[in-house]
Parts: sequence; structure tokens; C-alpha cells
Amino acid sequence: MKPAVRVTITGAAGNIGYAAAFRIAAGGMLGTDQPIILQLIEIEPALDALRGVEMELRDCAFPLLKDIISTADINIGFKDVDYALLIGSRPRTKGMERSDLLSANGKIFGPQGRAINDHASRDVKVLVVGNPANTNALIAMSNAPDISPTQFTSMMRLDHNRAISQLSTKTRTPVTKIEHMALWGNHSLTQYPDISHCMVDGKSANSLVNESWYRNEFIPKVQKRGAEIINARGASSAASAASAAIDHMRDWALDTANDAWISMGIVSTGDYGIAKGLMYSFPVRCKNGTYEVIQGLSMDDFSVKMAKASEAELLEEREAVKDLL
Ligand code: NAD
Ligand code: LMR
Repeated sequence: MKPAVRVTITGAAGNIGYAAAFRIAAGGMLGTDQPIILQLIEIEPALDALRGVEMELRDCAFPLLKDIISTADINIGFKDVDYALLIGSRPRTKGMERSDLLSANGKIFGPQGRAINDHASRDVKVLVVGNPANTNALIAMSNAPDISPTQFTSMMRLDHNRAISQLSTKTRTPVTKIEHMALWGNHSLTQYPDISHCMVDGKSANSLVNESWYRNEFIPKVQKRGAEIINARGASSAASAASAAIDHMRDWALDTANDAWISMGIVSTGDYGIAKGLMYSFPVRCKNGTYEVIQGLSMDDFSVKMAKASEAELLEEREAVKDLL
């Protein structure tokens, strides 16, 4: 048996945390040969609910689950953590944009970044899910000066998965046959789901769908999917978000398959002309616990315009939280 690794979930009694914890404990994120210690963080008023989550986790008798620590103390919750899923924060409701959450949620991520800096494993991998995810990840990263910025990421995998699913439905092709999807930018209305490099069962996606569908239906559909779900469910996506978070961490920890691309919010080092230091989504592949941006992709005028619009929004968000960085 491998030694156990520590996985922290913040907001573990919330909707996404609840959907994620059981799959992680069952081996769905790090593999069925990887023992896990779960470190569950909640705010004080939610500790009773968290106790219930812990009881249910124990009642599953998961073979891989070696221990559970439930706490409202972030210094305990991030102690020695190897994988941190920063979910706990307020979700938006009907009529709000994700950036409207910045003032309520932004202040959560500075202290968490500092606690990670002071207590986590030096190899920790951090995924920020709480919205607005990219800028919250930037805040956490900026407050952890002793940890490499490359160890902080934000979740764009839900958008990536949504884009694959929409293209799969349109082309009547299994999702497994869709390759090289790329999501650029922010987890917001300005995100750019880019099919221009996509192959659908060996054929270029551009040859299978027309430009009007791509620009006027597909892109807005993916951009607005979160709001569509809120309108239908009366609550924001939870199980699909948990699933995407697990996909993101699994691929980062255990490698993307062969030539597969995924999309991750990562700190920009200037690739494709995107401002350095922003937490921006790029297509990447992962190997040996690290990611690399897919290089050399051609970007036509439309792609450049879309990628730059999302960069502009992230620059504005960064300016709005400059006191937290
Ligand atoms: P929820 O309200 O069901 O649960 C949030 C939980 O976080 C609650 O239990 C709450 O007590 C806890 N919490 C609040 N502040 C906390 C803090 N400082 N420390 C620890 N826990 C804290 O919400 P949810 O549906 O689970 O959504 C959580 C977040 O994820 C929201 O911000 C939502 O917008 C975001 N989200 C992001 C994506 C994405 O793709 N990036 C997708 C879906 C949802
Ligand atoms: C989503 O994309 O489903 C989440 O970010 C929740 C939201 O507010 O849209």
C-alpha cells in the first residue's frame, strides 16, 4: 500500500463539497490504490452539518479512507495537505454575475493562501473552485510567497467538459472521440470555448459545424451554461462541478492521457500574449505532476479578439482586488 496523502476540501458541507468528498474517498480522484486522509474545512455555523458529512463518510467504510479531520481552523485543515480543493464560498443566485461575488468571496482566499503557505506540503496542488474562481486563485497564490505560483490553479474544467458535451451532441459523436478542445480566459461570460483545433473522430470540427452555429449558439451556450443551470435548478451546478474538480486534480496528479488536452486556469507566463501573472485558462497537458501549455497554436483574428476580451476582464478583476494581493 502507498502511504496516505492528505486532501483538503473547504466548504465540505456545501453542495459541491458533499458531491466531491465521497467520490474522492472512493478513489475517483487519485486512484483506487491511493489511501487518503480527508481534511474537511467549514465555517463555524456549518460545523454540525460537517459532522453529519463526516459520519456518512465513515459509514461508507471506504477502504482507502484512513482518517477524517473536520475543522473550522484553516491552520489545522491545511496542515501537511498534498491536494487542496478550495470550494467553500458563496454561490451566485439568479441575475448575478460571478464577479458580483468578488467582494463577498475574495477575502476568504487571502487567509487560506497564507495558511497553505505556512502549513501545507511543499508540493501541494491547489485548485480554486469558489467564484470568481480565477481571481480568487490569484488572491490565494499571491498570499503564498513560499509556494510556487504553478501550484495554484483555477477550475475551467467544467467549461471544458461542457464544450465537449455540446460539440458531441451537435456532431452525434461520443465525447471520447472529441480531442483538442481549448478553453481560454476567465470562468465567466467572456470565456472563449475554442473548437478551431478540435478533432471529432479524426475530422476537424470546423469542417463539421457551420460558423453561425459555432459563434451564435455554441459559444454563448457554453458561456451561459452556469446561469442556465441556476435558472432551471434554483441552485448552481454542484455534481457536475464536483466531477470537473475531480477530473482536474486527477489529470494534474496522474497525467493527461497520451496527446489529450485539458483546460486549466494557471498563472500566465506570457504565452499567447496574455499578461503575465494573471490566472488565465489555457489548453495544457500534464505529466509527472506538472502542466505545460500547448504551444504553437494558430490564433485567427476572432480567437485573438476573444482571448483578449477575457484577459481585459481579468485585468479589471485584478485591479478590483489589488488590496488583497
Ligand atoms: P454552497 O453554498 O452549497 O456551499 C458552500 C459551502 O462553503 C457552505 O457549506 C459554506 O458554509 C462554506 N463556506 C463559506 N465560506 C467558507 C469559508 N470561508 N471557509 C470554508 N467554508 C466556507 O455552494 P456550492 O454550490 O458548493 O458552491 C461553492 C462555490 O463554488 C461557489 O462560489 C460557486 O459559485 C462555485 N462554483 C464554481 C464552479 C467553477 O466551475 N469554477 C462551478 C460551480 C460552482
Ligand atoms: C457554473 O459555471 O456552473 C458555476 O460557476 C456556478 C455559476 O455561478 O454559474
